[in-house]
Formats: sequence, C-alpha cells, structure tokens
Amino acid sequence: MYGPEGGATPRATKPKKITVPHVQSQKGQKPLVMVTAYDASSERIVDAAGVDMILVGDSLGMVVLGYEDTLRVDLEDMVRHTAAVSRTRPSALLVADMPYLSYHTGPRDAVLAAGRLVREAGAEAVKLEGGRKRCAVIEALVDAEIPVMGHLGLTPQSLNAMGGYRVQGRVLDQIDALLDDAAALVEAGVFAMVLEGIPADVAQMISEAVPVPTIGIGAGAGCDGQVLVFHDLLGLFDGRGPKFVKRYASLGELAVEAVSAYADEVREGAFPAREHTYRLPRTAAEALAQRRHASA
Ligand code: KIV
Repeated sequence: MYGPEGGATPRATKPKKITVPHVQSQKGQKPLVMVTAYDASSERIVDAAGVDMILVGDSLGMVVLGYEDTLRVDLEDMVRHTAAVSRTRPSALLVADMPYLSYHTGPRDAVLAAGRLVREAGAEAVKLEGGRKRCAVIEALVDAEIPVMGHLGLTPQSLNAMGGYRVQGRVLDQIDALLDDAAALVEAGVFAMVLEGIPADVAQMISEAVPVPTIGIGAGAGCDGQVLVFHDLLGLFDGRGPKFVKRYASLGELAVEAVSAYADEVREGAFPAREHTYRLPRTAAEALAQRRHASA
C-alpha cells in the first residue's frame, strides 16, 4: 500500500526457487500445483500459499480484461501482466502463456514473442496450445533456451475451430490423435504439458505414456499435477464455471459486503474516524487559530 506509513509487507523466509528441472523431476513423485496469477497482488497470494508454478494465463482476457474469450489477448497484454507478476520475484516457476497469433505464424515470430516474455517480462517458461502441428515452433523455442509447456485437449484459442468449448478425446480417433500429439510434444522438447477438458481415463493414459509431468484441468485425478484459474478457485469470477472448477472460497461475495460497508459508512459520516485522520501538531493548530482570529 502507498502512503506515508505504507509499504510492502516483507515475506518471512523465502522458500527455495522452483526451476524447470525441479518440475521435471517431480514426475511420479509429488503432485504438482499450478495456479494462475496476473498481477503483483495475486502473485503474493499464490506464492505465499506455496504453489509450484504460477501461470500468467491468457485467461486474463476473460477474468481481468473483460473479454468474452482469450482470442483478443495480445502480446503487449501478456508482457505487461507477466512483468507485474515477476516483479514480486516468485519462488514458484513463472510460466507465461503465448497469446493467440504470437506463434501461429512460424518459429521466428514465436521466438521473438517468447523472447519478449522472457527478457522484458521475466517469464521462466512459456506455454502454447496445440499438438504435432506446433512442433517446429516448440523446437525453435527450446533451441533458443526457452522452456516450453505444451497444452492439449480443450485448447481455448481453438474455440472457433472446435465450435465451442468442448470436451476432447471422447471418441477413438480423438483419443489416438491426443496420444500422438502428446508423444510429438515430448519429441519436440516440452518439459511438461497441460491436459484440459479430457475424460479422466484418457488423461491418465497420456500421463502414463509420457515422461514429462502432465498438469490437468478438467482432466481428472490421474495427471501429475493440477491447475486452476485464480478467480475461479477463490470465487471472484461470477460467470457460470465449468464442471471441473472447485470454489475454495467466495471472496467475490465478501468483497461486495466489504465495499458496501465502506459505502454505508462514508454516506453516514462514520468513515473516516479519528484513528484514520492526521491531526495538526498543537503549535501549528494554535498558530492557525490565531491567524483566523486576526483576519476575522
Ligand atoms: O489461460 C489459462 O489460464 C490456462 C489454464 C486454464 C491452463 O491456459
């Protein structure tokens, strides 16, 4: 908080920094926890909770910027929000989403876009959507020393091509395609992959088939880790959430109550009270009173 007595609250002892090799080493060990964050205040909360990875997801388009989908998020949005998260120096691994059209035009554009997320914004890895057809891009990024997380299944940037947000991998052809895509991503060099909106049995098959951690969202308990959107898990987003979202709090309702209480107190004259008010030192108050008296 700003103000004469304000200032960021220093954290107690900082936990060890989580790196890409650490995340890779957790396959088959401990479930990995990833949560999205989009600014310094959400970063402080998720990092204090001890998550393994923070994703600056392009879901920010919907939960922060008020768009209907993620397709309108651009690279400038991602650079600005990733930088806001990285400024608070998270212990968790910081992964930034590559927005729509920042990698679809080829490996060179992808390296330049991801390079900005790393160099200007402080991302430690990037995530991009798609399977085998993204392999050339993934190889170029890995070649440029940028760790890549894949994303298969219900990929929101394919909203129009999929004809809506639809669970993927419900028929044999789709299941085979997902298994093939997962193997291709591993071959191209991803260090982990998100599996979104896939039946649990299929996600488990993929998780057992690949040597890298799988991070599920709407993909059941057989993945190597889970990810949720910050606003969804805290009850801060009042859209109708999908089946896989679990709300761990209702902070949106609490926030409305708090702001309403503030508004009532302002209107009633109860805020600010004496303890929220700076007072003049006695000498200055007396001098002011004398001056008023003299000019009256
Ligand atoms: O943008 C995002 O938040 C994501 C997660 C839901 C995986 O991609």
